[in-house]
Amino acid sequence: MESLYGGALHRRVTIADLAAAKSRGEKWAMLTSYEQMTAEIFDEAGIPVLLVGDSAGNNFLGESNTIPVTVDELIPLTRAVVRASKRALVLADLPFGSYESSPEQALATSTRFFKEAGAMGVKIEGPQIATVEKLVASGIPVMGHVGLTPQAVHLLSGYRVQGRTDGEAIVQAALALEKAGAFAIVLELVPAELAAKITAALKIPTIGIGAGVDCDAQVLVWTDMMGITKNPPKLAKAYRNMRSEMLAAASEFAADVKAGQFPAAEHTFN
Ligand code: KIV
Repeated sequence: MESLYGGALHRRVTIADLAAAKSRGEKWAMLTSYEQMTAEIFDEAGIPVLLVGDSAGNNFLGESNTIPVTVDELIPLTRAVVRASKRALVLADLPFGSYESSPEQALATSTRFFKEAGAMGVKIEGPQIATVEKLVASGIPVMGHVGLTPQAVHLLSGYRVQGRTDGEAIVQAALALEKAGAFAIVLELVPAELAAKITAALKIPTIGIGAGVDCDAQVLVWTDMMGITKNPPKLAKAYRNMRSEMLAAASEFAADVKAGQFPAAEHTFN
């Protein structure tokens, strides 16, 4: 595959393709997706990696953060994203409480995502080194996630930039994850200079979110990227204002129905 964008549509992007992209210095984009329609659209747009994030909690399931999300909730979402995409590598985010107890617990959870949903890899938060080793030894590609790890929001006292004073700990965590076999690492809410240093130190790709422009890839939560989220975080760019578009469309529909203007003749059967 010469480029992660475009290229062969007859097969999925693989972790080898992502490694090759890093070697040739090609940057790429990852998006979250939680259901069929966005998966179809983002796949058609050529987004090479779709993450069924536990951010489904506060963007799809009505929770105020990611902590309450369960494996049983994420499995049907992951299955929908896999079924609706043809080319993207689809990753499942292991939710809080489903992997921390032991590598065996993480393997059992990942196995469910693989068998019941067709996931092609998993993402786990924090430097869970023994767990990454176990999953990789079992044939499961693992994406790491360091810096701000939202499942630890209470421990971290909020969604704060990490690594301003203890940057070296994050560098070491990233290196340890690479050594354990992770194929890529999300760097969330860390100073750009630190992210650049980690990206240069690692052979595997880094995926930034609030981590500056020097990461190998960038990820956004799709509702932030489309301008649907009510109070988007500073790290996100809204490429459209879909919230106001959808609000306008719903209001127009309601007004048309009230005025007897929908359905019109072309929507009516004789
Ligand atoms: O759950 C999620 O959406 C994530 C990404 C922001 C990396 O973890």
